[in-house]
Amino acid sequence: MLKIVLLLLIPFICDGFLFHNSPEWNGLKVSWSPNPFSGFHDLPRQRLEAVNDGWELLVPNSGCDGHANFKGERYIKNHDYGVILIYDASGYIAGIQIGFPSSYSPNPNRYPPETLVNSPLVLDNGVYYLTAYFVHPGTICTGRSQDEFEETGTGEGLWIQNGTNPVLDSISIPKQESDIVNTRWTRGKCFYTMGMHYWYNIRSNMTCDEFFPVFLMYNDGLLNSFGWALGMNIETSEFLEHPPPTSYGRFLKPVPRCLKSQGILTTLHIYMTDSVFWNHC
Ligand SMILES: *[C@@H]1O[C@H](CO)[C@@H](O)[C@H](O)[C@H]1NC(C)=O
Ligand SMILES: *[C@@H]1O[C@H](CO)[C@@H](O)[C@H](O)[C@H]1NC(C)=O
Repeated sequence: MLKIVLLLLIPFICDGFLFHNSPEWNGLKVSWSPNPFSGFHDLPRQRLEAVNDGWELLVPNSGCDGHANFKGERYIKNHDYGVILIYDASGYIAGIQIGFPSSYSPNPNRYPPETLVNSPLVLDNGVYYLTAYFVHPGTICTGRSQDEFEETGTGEGLWIQNGTNPVLDSISIPKQESDIVNTRWTRGKCFYTMGMHYWYNIRSNMTCDEFFPVFLMYNDGLLNSFGWALGMNIETSEFLEHPPPTSYGRFLKPVPRCLKSQGILTTLHIYMTDSVFWNHC
């Protein structure tokens, strides 16, 4: 019996002790699933791996620094805008994006509201993009060295692009949960395999025009995951999630009353780690 228990524990023992020098942010996963061991999509953190796996440049020949609105080389797979991966000049992961066409239909809420256009949903060539970077956006087109990548893993921090200038308008998110308590981010609920959720300036009587479409997740006091929450139902992606309205109270506190009339939402949980098993909040 003891042997069996030990065998089952081997992957966790290795994770926790033997490779203690590996960075905290040791993976990149998206799409929450009720089973912590499957269902999540593992994403390539190096461009070479991505290309071998069928990811293609979103804008051919664009280069790292060739775009005014975003930094890095953006890759997409099977034309699915639910996940766009951003690589730095050296080919290491530097960020992630979601996109949807401004003409997307059906869109009964006419999402996004004016208040969210360009901050944070940047309109570019008929597509709205929501963008996060894992390294300071000003360094992306210099790129990380292999040593830096091995040391810092998926990234050095989290920057949410909240304007059309990726360098000047990106907000740095505190890595320590203790540093977020004095901000306008408000503590939501804890959900096992996700984390302690934080949402921006949530009130029960707010309008959904003010609902910032990004949430953060902390575990053991540290930021290790985050996600998107859009006020429309995007059905064209294999990555995206559609939580039932009855579940909102498991992530949000309070649940804004306006969400009752928003219909089905689109979310995506994004993890900078290779396992969600330890996400106990
Ligand atoms: C994003 O920018 C808008 C417009 O400047 C601002 O009102 C909002 O508070 C910003 N959001 C965050 C999370 O800082
Ligand atoms: C929302 O509620 C707060 C207090 O709970 C109140 O101060 C504020 O005026 C209310 N806002 C609206 C738009 O009703």
